[in-house]
Amino acid sequence: MSTKNERILIIGAGGQIGVELTLALRNIYGKENVIASDLKAENPLLTGTGPFLHVDAMDKNGLQQTVQKEKITQIYLLAAVLSAVGEKNPLMAWGVNMQTILNVLEIAREEQLTKIFWPSSIAIFGATSPKQNCPQQTIVEPTTIYGISKYAGESWCEYYYEKYGVDVRSLRYPGLISYKSAPGGGTTDYAIDIFHQALKTKTYDCFLDEDTYLPMMYMDDGIRATIELMEAPAEKIKNHRSYNLAAMSFSPKEIAAEIQKHIPDFRIHYKPDFRQAIAESWPQSIDDKEARAEWGWKPEFDLAKMTEDMLKNLK
Ligand SMILES: NC(=O)c1ccc[n+]([C@@H]2O[C@H](COP(=O)([O-])OP(=O)(O)OC[C@H]3O[C@@H](n4cnc5c(N)ncnc54)[C@H](O)[C@@H]3O)[C@@H](O)[C@H]2O)c1
Repeated sequence: MSTKNERILIIGAGGQIGVELTLALRNIYGKENVIASDLKAENPLLTGTGPFLHVDAMDKNGLQQTVQKEKITQIYLLAAVLSAVGEKNPLMAWGVNMQTILNVLEIAREEQLTKIFWPSSIAIFGATSPKQNCPQQTIVEPTTIYGISKYAGESWCEYYYEKYGVDVRSLRYPGLISYKSAPGGGTTDYAIDIFHQALKTKTYDCFLDEDTYLPMMYMDDGIRATIELMEAPAEKIKNHRSYNLAAMSFSPKEIAAEIQKHIPDFRIHYKPDFRQAIAESWPQSIDDKEARAEWGWKPEFDLAKMTEDMLKNLK
């Protein structure tokens, strides 16, 4: 277990992952020691749970002043432009995704922070990577600007670890499914929207084709993986680029069938759009044996357990 003297800054705390990670870290480290920050106004789900600051991760000086003033020891950088939004504005996505990680790595080096967390994504893999059980080290030729920026970011993380000893840790998240905070414009967002529409209208127009398999994970597992990685003793972390991370893989047809076990008259229609090509460029399943062997990763939620929990909580 890490020392509880840490002062943690979460950048992008108002987003889909940030809200839940902030609440989980506040339980461990104490609410005063976990400072939520975002470009946007405070997410109402965080109101009253601890300190919140307006921070623009593109502004290195402003960010560094916050780190000094708040005596920050660890940063979780969650601010990013996601895959579907990134394809609509590639230069903006590249600018945000690169400048924010470079600012944080530089500040970590200059201020000698103890640890940094920065998520990568299964989007680093492209059409030439293995489709099934895609290994951690393999052919990596991403075709989306999101994937390109994440892969470049991974390389910068490894560089700062090797050259300056910055203890930066990273996970290649699959699509994360949650009921608390809304998703931020990724290609796996359908697997969240489908639950909302199933309860509201009992029909869903899916922007991916029925047999499009993608790696997915329930948010509870994603948050636990993040904290377990960050709390693992340094000698267990053999990889400062990014770890493959997996829990389940399913298609729109399979998740619809699982929802029908609870809502028998639910219907799904398939209307693939530009996101179909993004999904098809990614692996269908991921091999995460290094995460399991090196720091003990083990998922708890499969499709059935997740579906039950999502419907129960959204009701
Ligand atoms: N959600 C997923 O399924 C998933 C999968 C793989 C990787 N990831 C990665 O996890 C991280 C968080 O994802 P998310 O789904 O929570 O994203 P999100 O879009 O829901 O949240 C990102 C947050 O960052 C904030 N932000 C954007 N630019 C900022 C800036 N310049 N300064 C400060 N804050 C800024 C946004 O306002 C937003 O609240 C991202 O790096 C993303 O690429 C997410």
